[in-house]
Amino acid sequence: MTKVLVTGGAGFIGSHLVDRLLQEGFEVRVLDLLDPRVHPNGKPSWISGEAEFVQGDVRDAQTLASALRGVQYVFHEAAYQDYMPDFSRFLHVNSVSTALIHELILEYRLNVEKVIVASSQAVYGEGQYQCINPHCQQYQQMVQPPARDEEQLQEGRWEVICPSCHTEMNPLRLKEEYANPYNAYAISKYAEELSAVRLGKLHHIPSVALRYSIVQGPRQSLFNQYSGICRIFSVRLMNGLPPIIYEDGLQTRDFTHVADVVEANMTVLKDPRADYQVFNVGSGCATTVLEYARVLTQQFGMDVEPLLPGEYRLGDNRHSVSDISRLQALGWQPTRTLPQIFKDYLEWIGNQGNVLDYFKTAEALMKQAGVVRKVSSPSG
Ligand SMILES: NC(=O)c1ccc[n+]([C@@H]2O[C@H](COP(=O)([O-])OP(=O)(O)OC[C@H]3O[C@@H](n4cnc5c(N)ncnc54)[C@H](O)[C@@H]3O)[C@@H](O)[C@H]2O)c1
Repeated sequence: MTKVLVTGGAGFIGSHLVDRLLQEGFEVRVLDLLDPRVHPNGKPSWISGEAEFVQGDVRDAQTLASALRGVQYVFHEAAYQDYMPDFSRFLHVNSVSTALIHELILEYRLNVEKVIVASSQAVYGEGQYQCINPHCQQYQQMVQPPARDEEQLQEGRWEVICPSCHTEMNPLRLKEEYANPYNAYAISKYAEELSAVRLGKLHHIPSVALRYSIVQGPRQSLFNQYSGICRIFSVRLMNGLPPIIYEDGLQTRDFTHVADVVEANMTVLKDPRADYQVFNVGSGCATTVLEYARVLTQQFGMDVEPLLPGEYRLGDNRHSVSDISRLQALGWQPTRTLPQIFKDYLEWIGNQGNVLDYFKTAEALMKQAGVVRKVSSPSG
């Protein structure tokens, strides 16, 4: 039987991947630290008894080497994802572990046929834009702007401006060629995918990096603050509280169902044309955060307007919608819509017992660390 290692297989995406691999007849080994920030109550009940479970750290060479033995395919989903300023931890957990996987495959001449790593849309940083000012020297050119500066955000001016003429620009769909990471998580994810794809190519270890957009669905940690918009808004609504939105809510995002992400992994696993490449995995649709909050609120049958307290999160970008044509060319298609995402998630969260307002605690921690800030002089 073909054996597969899923690091982070106790987590949200990893556990769905594990289920799918078991269904397809693979023998599955999970390596997961059960990070208390994600799993404060220990091993989650959804880890299938059919999978071999190893509790351990991907940063530990001995643990990783023994988890890699006898395995043909590796899905590297384990990661540190947060907004906290412990920068070196991002690189250790996300990037160094990826280099270590390739190093150990070579060192022990392991028979691994493919490594697929989970990267992120975060590698695009502030994203890709087009200047629409005909008087600007960058008119109609693709611009990769730096992160919006603190002064601009303090004034509540949210749109991305052209570095040359300072007028607002049009967002473009994010293309794989133009990564531009600027926060610790994104830098670590970019280093992770470079380690996989470039070291893989150099040493003939077929490797693929998938840049997921915001992934949604059942089993998303109720505790991890990063990327859990559906969970954060749902928990507030379940507690009778309106969702809290950063900036003005008109920032656009790309929400992808976890089942489509699993499908993307299966596509690149089976197709050798994917080897040594990076692919976006997104929904192909732009949704504003405000629209998202309103539709979710309706699904709860509630009549409250989201709160816009004029706060922003340092390191957030304005518009992120991926161009998914590269992966579509291999035959993959996202098939689940936003209502499907909400339906599946709400069914699951409804069965999670007494859900408290975890958001308050997580938010207080981020404020303490200076990650969430308030506008000082809002512009009109
Ligand atoms: N969820 C998203 O929206 C999203 C978006 C883009 C990319 N990603 C990437 O997808 C992957 C899976 O994300 P997820 O949402 O399922 O996260 P998750 O937090 O639910 O799962 C990650 C798992 O990794 C484990 N882990 C953390 N540190 C570890 C370590 N040092 N050693 C071993 N295991 C460790 C955790 O215990 C957890 O079970 C990650 O690589 C993440 O960066 C996720």
